[in-house]
Amino acid sequence: MRILVTGGAGYIGSVVVEELIREGEQVTVLDNLYQGHRAAVHPQAEFVLVDLADAAAVNDLFARQSFDAVMHFASHSLVGESVQDPLKYVGDNVANGINLLRAMHQHGVRRFILSSTANLFDQPEELPITEKEQIIPGSPYGESKFILERMLHWLDRIHGLRYAALRYFNAAGATPERGEDHSPETHLIPLVLQVAMGQREQIQVFGNDYPTRDGTCVRDYIHVTDLAQAHILALRALDEGSRTYNLGNGQGFTVREVIETARQVTGHPIPAVDTARRPGDPPELVAGSAKIRRDLGWQPRFPDLRDIVQSAWDWHRAHPQGYGD
Ligand SMILES: NC(=O)c1ccc[n+]([C@@H]2O[C@H](COP(=O)([O-])OP(=O)(O)OC[C@H]3O[C@@H](n4cnc5c(N)ncnc54)[C@H](O)[C@@H]3O)[C@@H](O)[C@H]2O)c1
Repeated sequence: MRILVTGGAGYIGSVVVEELIREGEQVTVLDNLYQGHRAAVHPQAEFVLVDLADAAAVNDLFARQSFDAVMHFASHSLVGESVQDPLKYVGDNVANGINLLRAMHQHGVRRFILSSTANLFDQPEELPITEKEQIIPGSPYGESKFILERMLHWLDRIHGLRYAALRYFNAAGATPERGEDHSPETHLIPLVLQVAMGQREQIQVFGNDYPTRDGTCVRDYIHVTDLAQAHILALRALDEGSRTYNLGNGQGFTVREVIETARQVTGHPIPAVDTARRPGDPPELVAGSAKIRRDLGWQPRFPDLRDIVQSAWDWHRAHPQGYGD
């Protein structure tokens, strides 16, 4: 298959491209490098510098080349920023997704995988969070993903698009070649490792009075190559029908447990300071991934937090300046 990967120069997209190429697929990466890195793109992938906001350029790409499937990672994805600027988030994420879907429709491409998010579940009634949970987006960012999920539902019913919406919890970890290099960095594991690298003095813990085992928030960390495998399994199953999956490890770890694991892995004391809660952080988000395990036989290969943190640490030590751009 030839697969178009939008956002394939970013963290998760670049690892999925690596896995697709390992499986013998042909890949074209579309990215505007607004967050991503040219060096993260696998050398065997074709790279096109296109902004999804440019509908004509997106359409031209589909006119020039035929694709069997599209995986759509490109997005604004900072929850906090989305609360400051909802027009940017709902506006761009939805409009850019529609540009892509319109070009696919025009050129008869009918397989699509969406990077969706745990931010659809702001007030879960049950843990772990399954696909049956009520959707209450926690931010304009989450809302933008939900609107795209609904768009996909209608495109399936009306035009026969086959899609998978994969709602990731917290992606983490690295392969030897590709890891997490966001600017600004907002994710806990790379921030903690920046302290261990001497690039940051301490780590802030937002809230120590949540109703959890040590008072700090509980999150579900899924290794990025396990995420990549889920994309490949979902792609292979698409022709049997569209599907939506919550995708996580199924185990929650507190912020303090992540910091303690990073201390063990790195041998660095990693000073931590307690600060106030951030608005909008739910106490606990853990994925119920029984559906994807049952339907597709997906199994996380790296469920252990220590392995996840170790892989990220190995990458950060080998790439102290990230991709260096
Ligand atoms: N990282 C996580 O834990 C997590 C969790 C849930 C969902 N997601 C979703 O997964 C996807 C990938 O996340 P990530 O952490 O790899 O993000 P990332 O920022 O590292 O990658 C996104 C990529 O998309 C590109 N991009 C953004 N806007 C673009 C545009 N208009 N045109 C072309 N390219 C554009 C960026 O340059 C970047 O390379 C995102 O859609 C995100 O919302 C991520």
